[in-house]
Amino acid sequence: MCGIVGYVGPQQAQHVVVEGLRRLEYRGYDSAGVALVVPDGTGPGRIAEAKKAGKLANLEKVVADSPLPASHTGIGHTRWATHGAPNDVNAHPHLGHERRVALVHNGIIENFAELRSRLEADDHVLVSETDTEVVAHLVELQVQSGVDLTTAMQRVCLVLEGAFTLVAIDAHDPERVVAARRNSPLVVGVGEGEHFLGSDVAAFIEHTREALELGQDQVVCITRDGVEITDFRGRPAEGRRYHVDWDLSAAEKDGHDWFMRKEIFEQPKAVADSLLGRRTQHGLLQLDEMRLSDDEIRDIDKIIIIACGTSFYAGMVAKYAIEHWTRIPVEVELSSEFRYRDPILDHSTLVVAISQSGETADTLQAIRHARTQRSRVLAICNTNGSTIPRESDAVIYTHAGPEIGVASTKGFLTQLVACYLLALYVAQVKGTRYGDEIDQIMGQLEAIPEQIETVLAGAQQVYDLAAEHTGARSVLFLGRHAGYPVALEGALKLKELAYLHAEGFAAGELKHGPIALVEEGLPVLCVVPPRGRDQLHEKMISGIQEVRARGARTICLAEEGDTKIEPYADVLVRLPQVPVLLQPLVATIPLQLFACELATLLGHDVDQPRNLAKSVTVE
Ligand code: AGP
Repeated sequence: MCGIVGYVGPQQAQHVVVEGLRRLEYRGYDSAGVALVVPDGTGPGRIAEAKKAGKLANLEKVVADSPLPASHTGIGHTRWATHGAPNDVNAHPHLGHERRVALVHNGIIENFAELRSRLEADDHVLVSETDTEVVAHLVELQVQSGVDLTTAMQRVCLVLEGAFTLVAIDAHDPERVVAARRNSPLVVGVGEGEHFLGSDVAAFIEHTREALELGQDQVVCITRDGVEITDFRGRPAEGRRYHVDWDLSAAEKDGHDWFMRKEIFEQPKAVADSLLGRRTQHGLLQLDEMRLSDDEIRDIDKIIIIACGTSFYAGMVAKYAIEHWTRIPVEVELSSEFRYRDPILDHSTLVVAISQSGETADTLQAIRHARTQRSRVLAICNTNGSTIPRESDAVIYTHAGPEIGVASTKGFLTQLVACYLLALYVAQVKGTRYGDEIDQIMGQLEAIPEQIETVLAGAQQVYDLAAEHTGARSVLFLGRHAGYPVALEGALKLKELAYLHAEGFAAGELKHGPIALVEEGLPVLCVVPPRGRDQLHEKMISGIQEVRARGARTICLAEEGDTKIEPYADVLVRLPQVPVLLQPLVATIPLQLFACELATLLGHDVDQPRNLAKSVTVE
């Protein structure tokens, strides 16, 4: 979720751009950069640029030590690394071969590898690991062919696959900035004699509140006095004009009250982004950061997943999927326990460390222990370049973007996606699942973002439910199979946000003790498995009957069309129909919304709950 700024107008572009990047710092990033068009009175101008890993202060020190020349046209970027480590070389902007075009990018270009190899075959020298640099070279090739920057951008967008916001400047055209978007945000700030571009309105809100939102597959050219929008084929198009009445704080949360709520609603895009670029041009699964050979994968005879908190629950879901698709036994361990139980490890054990932050001390110490036992370690992580992936043999990065809220939401859902991809990839290498089966499951995964949107569209029902429970003293969560970790995660969200006693149980475990907790009016949230061949659905209904018979208020999350549950549900929250192994991707959403809303109604700080930190870097 990079930050992007563009400017053309009478002000000093460097100042406007850097200040705009400062307004976008909340998004989280690991490097920053700026590029300016420096006109030359007589001939073509040139690009002046500066970029630096780390925080904006590092970039500001660079430009303080060697000031950039005056300019009225510029672009800037704060990068959240996806392809390539967070260092100076990979920081944006990136320049074309002749340093005539500078470009910044937010998103993932799925076909960048083949585009890069074609450029290198034509003796282009690319210095970074990024997909972005490839685009800068392509746009520059177009303007060198004689077309203007707008046409160049249109032509390049037609060959790109994936999600992208692109913003570019041309040294030979000092009065314009051109941008394009597909599945990634971009807004225009409309000023008097000046125009702005931003990944969100926070980038320019101090200059103008008049905004123009671009639609899908559109290119925009801004000059001092005008905005021209087209589609990728150059046909005129319209943006959505609106007035921004948010203050800066609301703008950073995209109008939501909390970063956590914003991140809950970002989950369709986070899941879609985490699925991008996972197929070769021949349709096979690829996990480019995997760095484990096929032989090493075939050699795996046990998998141990280690994690903490919400990430541990992602590991519990992963166990069901990995064992079902690969037939490899999977153990799931709390990182803090793993290292002290003298685990049985050898070179055929794959240890999978799941961590959103990549800095959790318990998990870091656990992988260090695993490596002393000659086990290979694969990290599933959302933070490029963090310690845990750096100390692992292999990594699968999730592409949730920065997660600001302490309570993990999109981090969790994208961990599930990464675990499913790992399971399918191992199944593909070991041959325990055929290509058509893998294709079918990938198709089901690719349909999930839209299904999450459906669940989010029903948020008000969950908010009303939360309002009915502001007086609750305890809430139970029940689930079976892959729904059991979802119940645990739902309970954790309520604990960490509403400071309420909440507990998740395997529904089949109730009669072995926990059912003694049930009393009149106790709210019990039940994750009902999809109907299917096995007994799961029936057994879950039995568990719900048991608690209802003892006075519980049963709030059931059940798939559309499930009529058998109706007599046992005091409240019914409908879920889209998805396969049982993928149901956590949709069943978790109402539980996140419930906890977020209840905590809000109780007046708690949802983004910074008491006693908690976003990354627990102490054991
Ligand atoms: C989840 O809402 C919590 N913030 C916490 O349990 C978190 O999942 C845990 O600390 C692990 O963090 P990590 O994924 O960054 O390793």
